[in-house]
This record gives sequence, structure tokens and C-alpha cells, in this order.
Amino acid sequence: MKRVAIIEGEDASPEAMRPSVEIFASLGLPIEFVWPPVGLPAQEQLGTTFPEEARQAIDNSDATLFGATSGPSARALFHLRWGRKTYANVRPVHWVPGFRSPLARPEGIDFVIVRENMEDAYVGIEGDLAALPQEFTWRATGRAAAEAAPGRYAIKVITEAGTRRVTEFACRLAERRQNDGYPGKVTVGTKHNMLFLSDGFFRQIAEAVIAEHANLTFQSFIIDDLARRLISDPQSFDVILLPNLYGDILSDEAAALIGGLGLAPSGCYADDYAYFESAGGSAPDIAGQNIINPTATLLSAAMMLEYLGFEPEGKRLTQAVESVYREGDHLTPDQGGTATTTEFCQAVHRFLHA
Ligand code: IPM
Ligand code: MG
Repeated sequence: MKRVAIIEGEDASPEAMRPSVEIFASLGLPIEFVWPPVGLPAQEQLGTTFPEEARQAIDNSDATLFGATSGPSARALFHLRWGRKTYANVRPVHWVPGFRSPLARPEGIDFVIVRENMEDAYVGIEGDLAALPQEFTWRATGRAAAEAAPGRYAIKVITEAGTRRVTEFACRLAERRQNDGYPGKVTVGTKHNMLFLSDGFFRQIAEAVIAEHANLTFQSFIIDDLARRLISDPQSFDVILLPNLYGDILSDEAAALIGGLGLAPSGCYADDYAYFESAGGSAPDIAGQNIINPTATLLSAAMMLEYLGFEPEGKRLTQAVESVYREGDHLTPDQGGTATTTEFCQAVHRFLHA
């Protein structure tokens, strides 16, 4: 028996999560669901957005399915990411017929972004320039701290251990894909021509780790060049490995290639835990309308199934979602259709159990 924690998130997110969990449950697998109290309801009942019992429920589960948050569920998200040390964020970018891509020829887009998920500019060390040694202020601004004020800084951290483990994760993924006929290529994106010591370090370690995998090829682009190539030549990528902030930015760009954030699943993996979430926002503009596209949530749930050891069921769920797009009769407004979230989910359910 596996246990999955469900965190619905805010705004329109629960409208995608609830029917997705129903579809998930309809597979009849030995999976128990728990609903830890998180966010606004927890605040009202227990006086905190992330009570101890929610933390325990997450820690006692095998995986979490997380909706999108506009803030109140952020502490739970922080626990899932930094508390559980989910260092590898995996974001598949796969166009299937029926996805409303803005590109003239989206056929064949099928790559995965692996984003380092804990370090880089996300370490949360920012402050006033005035708190830094004078030497830094001079170098950064050409002025003394008092003259440069007010000003702020942020710290970016790249470690050998952090880079090594996410690169190894990316290599394992590339090798698994290679068994399915993909080229076994890992593309690294960094600003190593400016940030020699930090991004240069990431690139150097990644290259060395990839070289330990004889079947894989290493490719490296400067991050701005890579952002362009994603649009001009998206079919040329297999696995793209990125430091945290670039990975955050480029994964939204990549989602746009196939038709938007509503289509882009995401999983964050530690060595002993994982959580899954749609990569998009909580869509406050359409909250309460029952039109949010649950595709990213369902595809994230399919990734979770594979993680939990139910690979055939994960594939079946993915195929059922893709069938709805191939058929094209029950698409949500963001994909040019008129279906509600409920109608879309009913169509997925039909294909799943056909
Ligand atoms: C994402 C999101 C998060 C991030 C936010 C909500 C903190 O943008 O998962 O891509 O930046 O990692
Ligand atoms: Mg993001």
C-alpha cells in the first residue's frame, strides 16, 4: 500500500486537483490518499498555514501531489522542496497532436528539462548593499556604500555536491530515455562566459559527470543562446540540465512551445521522496469558473504513478489524456475548446476505462 498526500493549492487549483484525484482513484490501485491541512483552511482551523500534523502527513507519505499556490500553501511547498531535499525538478516538454502550440511545426518536440531545485539564487540570501564589505560595493557600483545606497544584493550558490547529484540524476534519466530510442544527449545551459566561477563551475562539474557515462553526449550552450534555440530548434533537444533560476525561467518558455503552462507537468525528486505539481500558477483570473485545464495536473499524477512503481498505469493515464487531445472534442478554452474542466475530465475517464 502506498500513501499519497494531496495538497489542493489556491484559486483555481482545487478545481483541477479534485477531479484529477478522482480519475487517479478510479484506477483502483493500492494507494491511500491523505489530505493534510495546509493553507487558508488550516489557518482558519489551526491558526497556521502549515501545522505540524501537515508536515507529519507529508513525511509519512510516499509522495505528494501538490496544486499551485498563490502564497498560503507556500510553507508546505518549502518543506517539500528544502525540507525533503527534492533536488531534481523534472519537467517534460512533449507536444502531442491537439496541443495548441504557437509554433507552425511543433511536431517532434519531446525533451525534458532537469532543473537543479535547491541552490543558485534560490538559497534566499539577500540583503542591503551597505551590509557588504566596502570592497564589494566598490566593485559592484564604483561607489562607496553610502553613495550607492539604497541598494540590494542576492547570493547565488553553486556547490560541487549539488551539481553532481542533479547531473547524475539527469544522466540516469537520459539513459532510461535512451532505452526508448532517444539520443542520450544532455544539454547544459549556463552563463559561463560571465559567471566564470559559479556557472562555469556548474558547467565544468556537469561535463565531468556526463563524461563518466560513456553512452551519453554532452552539449553546452550559453543560457541566452539556449533560450533562442529552444524556439528555433526545439526538436534538437533530449535532456536539458539547468541551474535553478535558468531552469525556472526556461521551463515556462518551454511550456509555451507546446501550448502553455496548463499542459506542462512537473516532478521534484529527492533520493527518498518526490512531489508532483503542475508547473503553472494558481490561475486566479479563472477561479470559480470550472474551466481550468487539468492536463498538467493529470500528467504530473501520471509521473507520480511511475515513481510509485505503477508504470503501466502511469502510461495509461498519459495516453488517456493524449487521446482527448487527438479527438479534440472536449478541450478547455485555453486550448481553443469550450469544455469545462468537468467535461474534459469525463472524457479522460472514458478513454482511461475504454
Ligand atoms: C516553479 C515556480 C516556483 C519556483 C515558485 C512558485 C516559487 O515558479 O515551480 O517553477 O520558482 O520554483
Ligand atoms: Mg516557475
